Amino acid sequence: MPELGINIDHVATVREARKTNEPDPVLAAALADLGGADGITFHLREDRRHIQDRDVQLLRETVTLPLNFELACEKNVVDIACQIRPYQATLVPERRAEVTTEGGLDVFGNRARIIEVIQQLHDAGIVVSLFLDPDEAQIEAGQEVGANAVELHTGAYAHAAARFDFQRELDILRTAAACVVDLGMVLHAGHGLTYHNVKPVAAIQHMGELNIGHSIIARSITTGLVQAVRDMKRLIERGAGLS
Ligand code: PXP
Repeated sequence: MPELGINIDHVATVREARKTNEPDPVLAAALADLGGADGITFHLREDRRHIQDRDVQLLRETVTLPLNFELACEKNVVDIACQIRPYQATLVPERRAEVTTEGGLDVFGNRARIIEVIQQLHDAGIVVSLFLDPDEAQIEAGQEVGANAVELHTGAYAHAAARFDFQRELDILRTAAACVVDLGMVLHAGHGLTYHNVKPVAAIQHMGELNIGHSIIARSITTGLVQAVRDMKRLIERGAGLS
């Protein structure tokens, strides 16, 4: 069954909207653990719009689940990741004007820098995952630059409106997933996954990890985070039973 990584950035987004000290993403990580999360994911953005350096330090000191540190290939955050030594780092593209991570990493366009960063992270003992569009050429390039895992960008699938588009995007994800596994990398997926669309993705063969944030944090406002995580775990379990 795929593991569930809870992305806690959105908790910090609410806090930063008022530049105050609540809600606390570190407390959210503890509650996600109680709800059955398998890992905690956070993105330390260059502009520090949500997660702050202090959060990262406190997460390192308090969370016993594996940490998945999302970051761009920027020296400042790469150095912090190497010092924090999470279990895993996921390299993502970053654009200042975006609302959230909008596309997968372009391995071709940034090949030399990505190789350098992967080496630096590996030297620090960190497993490296690349956030990629479900595109075979990018996935092959990801394997060539030395990634251990690929997180497939599920945004196009999640935003597919018509049933026909949904099926097409799911087929694209399945083909890309097979490519990741055939190339010997660990398979992850994430972005835009919800209680309504998660099951078919959880059912993809060899799916190792799903990283989900917005939908779970949104539900937690009404149900509480422990329950929201439990609900998602149950759906993933059911989805995995379909494969
Ligand atoms: N995976 C990656 C690489 C992301 O950048 C994000 C968004 O922060 C997620 C997963 C989670 O996406 P969502 O918040 O839409 O569940």
